[in-house]
Amino acid sequence: MSNLMNLDITQQLEELRREAMASLASATSTEETRAWHGEYLSRKGRLTGILRGLGGVSAEERPRIGKIANEVKTALEEALQARQEELEQAELLAARNKELVDITLPGRPQTPGKLHLSTRALREIEGIFASMGFQVYESPDVETDEYNFQLLNMPEGHPARDMWDTFYTTTPDLLLRTHTSPGQVHAMRQYAPEPIRIVLPGMCYRYEPVTARSESMFYQVEGLAVGKNITFCDLKGTITNYITQMYGEGRRMRFRKSYFPFTEPSVEVDIDCVICNGKGCTVCKYSGWLELMGAGMVHPVVLQYGGYDPTEFSGFAFGMGPDRTSMQKYGIDDIRYFFTNDVRLTERIN
Ligand code: DAH
Repeated sequence: MSNLMNLDITQQLEELRREAMASLASATSTEETRAWHGEYLSRKGRLTGILRGLGGVSAEERPRIGKIANEVKTALEEALQARQEELEQAELLAARNKELVDITLPGRPQTPGKLHLSTRALREIEGIFASMGFQVYESPDVETDEYNFQLLNMPEGHPARDMWDTFYTTTPDLLLRTHTSPGQVHAMRQYAPEPIRIVLPGMCYRYEPVTARSESMFYQVEGLAVGKNITFCDLKGTITNYITQMYGEGRRMRFRKSYFPFTEPSVEVDIDCVICNGKGCTVCKYSGWLELMGAGMVHPVVLQYGGYDPTEFSGFAFGMGPDRTSMQKYGIDDIRYFFTNDVRLTERIN
């Protein structure tokens, strides 16, 4: 009886192993393998069920059958783990395939970045003057009263200072430059008595109400040429060449007499309005002309401050506001757009 029972249990175990293995092989998901574990290997599973019958097995036989039972258990556990890993991999792959990008969708258009309008204008101007042998020279935004005014022939109390009111710092005499002109003196003091041909691009600051037409921050490009025998003709030729390169052949231009403390004689240079070709429009305020820059022959006092002997050396200088010019060229009606960080400003232009 006991032998028969033993045989029965061994058989049952073998039977269980075969059936369980087959069932595991046909499992198609990790979920099914979990159900499989419940059926065969859990505490309420069929293997435990069979082992309960061990109680009726003789003491001598028990170790042998126990060993078989353990082997079956280990075999099933190992098979389960292997199958589970296999199915997990397959499921991961399937999930990934499902999430794959649909390559038939239309792509999102790339919007390549563009340089700020002011940067482009500065580079264009620098390029034109470079073609005439001018180098770029940069000088500080924070200046002294001496450089911003005194060395430009505006001693303390000079009425012309009113045109260039600025932001002062808490340090006496330290201020934000109101124009790029102080850079002229920096350059002269660095290079004298060598000849100079430079342009100075940079930010300037003015204590002014901010409106559509005036900002308290804006760019200027200053120009300076110092050498022997430099005349007003050189100034005119250089500016004419610049205007031709910047605005094209055949523009009309005019040199109007003006006043700047640091030049003598002084002029302002206009070109016929690029919007209406001189006929008169809102941009040129129906004058037909656009103001381009201030210019003149460097004042002898300024040359002297810069370290040049004015009886031997002469020079010309000019200063323009490229932001204003860009506004006119592109029909931008508010200078504040230059600082609002709105990319539509750059997108609007080519
Ligand atoms: N610094 C002047 C301004 O801010 C512009 C200017 C005029 C510069 C004449 C010059 C010049 O170099 O010669 O309005």
